[in-house]
Amino acid sequence: MTITALSAIPTDARELSIWPASMTPLPHGGLAVGGVPLTEIADRFDTPAYVLDEGEVRGRCRTYREAFPDAAVLYAAKAFLSRAMVRWVREEGLGLDVCSAGELELAVTSGFPPERIVLHGNAKSPRDLEAALRLGVGRIVIDSPSEIARIAAAVGPDGRQKVMVRVVPGVSAGGHDKIRTGTDDQKFGLSLTDGGAQHAVTRILGQPQLELTGLHCHIGSQITDVKPYLVALRRMVGLMARIRDAHGVVLPELDMGGGHGIAYRPGEPALDLTALARRLRAELIEGCAAARLTVPRLLIEPGRAVVGPAGVALYRVLAVKHTGEKVFVAVDGGMSDNPRPALYGVRYAPRLIGRTSAAETRTTTVVGRHCEAGDVLAADVHLPGDIRPGDLLAVPVSGAYQLSMASGYNLVGRPAVVAVHEGTARLLVRRETLQDYRSRDIGV
Ligand code: LLP
Repeated sequence: MTITALSAIPTDARELSIWPASMTPLPHGGLAVGGVPLTEIADRFDTPAYVLDEGEVRGRCRTYREAFPDAAVLYAAKAFLSRAMVRWVREEGLGLDVCSAGELELAVTSGFPPERIVLHGNAKSPRDLEAALRLGVGRIVIDSPSEIARIAAAVGPDGRQKVMVRVVPGVSAGGHDKIRTGTDDQKFGLSLTDGGAQHAVTRILGQPQLELTGLHCHIGSQITDVKPYLVALRRMVGLMARIRDAHGVVLPELDMGGGHGIAYRPGEPALDLTALARRLRAELIEGCAAARLTVPRLLIEPGRAVVGPAGVALYRVLAVKHTGEKVFVAVDGGMSDNPRPALYGVRYAPRLIGRTSAAETRTTTVVGRHCEAGDVLAADVHLPGDIRPGDLLAVPVSGAYQLSMASGYNLVGRPAVVAVHEGTARLLVRRETLQDYRSRDIGV
């Protein structure tokens, strides 16, 4: 048991660092984000609710564009997608990385220019490819040999589609085994080491319907160190030089994927974007000079680092239980809106909001309301000892891969998404209701 501050309000810079920049402490234990008190959002929109700070998302898009002025920055839609998100990203001048017909259609029908979209996927369905060609997607990233003939045939004799090849550069990086994608022991991409990537390139170059614009790699996610990117880049440039030597083709684009790590708790490391930009650029220029290659245009695909820190999850406490040595605080959401602790062992830092507490803090496990013991949102966190039903908890850094991975487990319903900006809150995505489930469930 730890005895710390009386109030649960983060005040020092280290604690503030994981919240949106707009976060302001208010009297009586309140917190405002985007100029709107979080308690007001909970009252108005109910809980659980996901709050997205529009200014923070836009600011992060701008930070990327400033750090990578010569590169195309594509937001990875899988981290979180909604029509508003599509608009913000478009207005901030980013492109988009999608991996299904669903993400693609939502983006295009929300006004996103298709030529600024890249379609990924290790197993693209006929519907994915049909939508990509119909909507005129900018690039399709080929991930397996069988796609080459499939896409060429779907394009038809008179068409031409820009494509890239996803290469596995043999670099291991990422915050968890399940999100490491840079080595040959996982399902994505074509291998650099066994010649699969080179073979695919040769075949693509033989297809008049396909225009190979460049190579792609995505080595993993939640990476906090620049080095694996540099190693991967060096190998990708090496392959580009070999393609030039073998085929006389100089590829104009190199997509280094996303994976930029963020801090989920105060004091955790995050990837330094300025350092990444500077060192990638230097490595690219040096590597290309050594290989006498024209420097390709760089593309990057950040998802988590654009939207993760802009999101705050709000939950209402439903029950408090003391079991032996443990204190469990159960809230009105859980693994159906945030499966990440269960999947990747991610640790979050929830906060009591809406009142101050004079109680000593104690080690508490915040759990969800779902029917399994693994439904833990935050194990062994320090929260005031007098937390009780009705209290509000806010979880920062909740913008990425929570709602986009939300499920219908226990028919609890997926939470509402609320945007905050300059003192105003507005509903972006309404809460899922029983009526939604019933309208899909049409059999008897
Ligand atoms: N590009 C490609 C081809 C990707 O597969 C991904 C993520 C990204 C870009 C964006 O990566 P980011 O910058 O967001 O790390 N559900 C996991 C993360 C899975 C990432 C999948 N691919 C999580 O919650 O941590």
